[in-house]
Amino acid sequence: MSTSAISDFHKLSLKEKIKIIKEFSNLTGEDLNLIKSYQKLPDFFDFENNIGPFKIATNFLVNGKDYFVPMEIEEPSVVAAASRGAKLIRTGGGFFGEYLGNEMVGELQLIGIRDFKKTKNKILRKKREILDLANKSDTFLLKIGGGARDLKLKKIKDFLVLYLIVDPKDALGANLINTMLEKISPFLKKITKAEIGARIISNFTERRIVRVEGKVPIKNLALKNFPGEIVVERILMLQKLAENDIFRAVTHNKGVMNGIDAVALATGNDFRAIESAVHSFTQRGGKYQPITKWKIENNYLVGKIEIPLPIATVGGATQTRKARLALKILRIREARELGIITAAVGLANNLSALSVVATEGIQKGHMKLHREFLKKMDFK
Ligand code: MEV
Repeated sequence: MSTSAISDFHKLSLKEKIKIIKEFSNLTGEDLNLIKSYQKLPDFFDFENNIGPFKIATNFLVNGKDYFVPMEIEEPSVVAAASRGAKLIRTGGGFFGEYLGNEMVGELQLIGIRDFKKTKNKILRKKREILDLANKSDTFLLKIGGGARDLKLKKIKDFLVLYLIVDPKDALGANLINTMLEKISPFLKKITKAEIGARIISNFTERRIVRVEGKVPIKNLALKNFPGEIVVERILMLQKLAENDIFRAVTHNKGVMNGIDAVALATGNDFRAIESAVHSFTQRGGKYQPITKWKIENNYLVGKIEIPLPIATVGGATQTRKARLALKILRIREARELGIITAAVGLANNLSALSVVATEGIQKGHMKLHREFLKKMDFK
């Protein structure tokens, strides 16, 4: 079993779904027991693609590899939408993505500086020593090719700010960077005679950007009575509205984050770090913008998402049994692979939402699922 493109997966019994995932992701008896223990919780409902700890999105083909994607979200229609978007993009060859960098920044505020130029030069002369000191706090990270890479200085009002640039490899980097900053503080104090103020990671994540693209043959976008050409025309009108109207742009982005947050939660990630990073990015160029872009190229509708995505496969809650299980189902080890898939889910959710919002409206499908869900709850 090497495909996640299983037609009507949501109609299979819970047992059949789990059997497929077990084979696909090579799950052990222990993994299956963990899944079963979540099914015993009072709020578990065998509904749509809920298997217990999370719901499962299907059809994802990313950089040529198949994925079932665990999503932790209360709303079943978001998972159905992700699977539908992925199914469409699969017909155009799947998603392709890459990270443009993997660095996080920590910020250290120096207070009470008299001569900024002199202090700046003092710090720059000791740069190597400072980076070495920072790297002493995590020698394993250094061994695997990560660590503090560089530092930059900037005068901001009456402070001198030191930006420590760190490659955290597969970690988010918050603990790591905060520890590094605290480690270099006494040395900075000694050489500059300044007071040390804040020492904290920055959630402005411009050095950890992921870019994912996918395309769909226009004819495949036909929906109910709407031919593919009309659906695409309406999607592009909706895109144009989002680019020029903040009321639409924020909702457009909320639909993307529906998918991204759900994967972040299933994999034990800090979704607030992701939310704040992405939201800062919507403002680049000084105007709030949608984080995805759709256009026509030849006979395809082509979509692109480019966002900061600080997501991890090690550290913090990514070590919980549930999060490890999510990574196992995904069959991944590296944070960057997880980030590319997560962005692909956001793009898939966006495509599904746009195609429906722009044509028949979301209420019909959404309410149908909702009614079925309420019925299920009554029968429990
Ligand atoms: C609802 O959770 C998300 C949508 O409103 C997104 C959108 O309008 O693009 C459907």
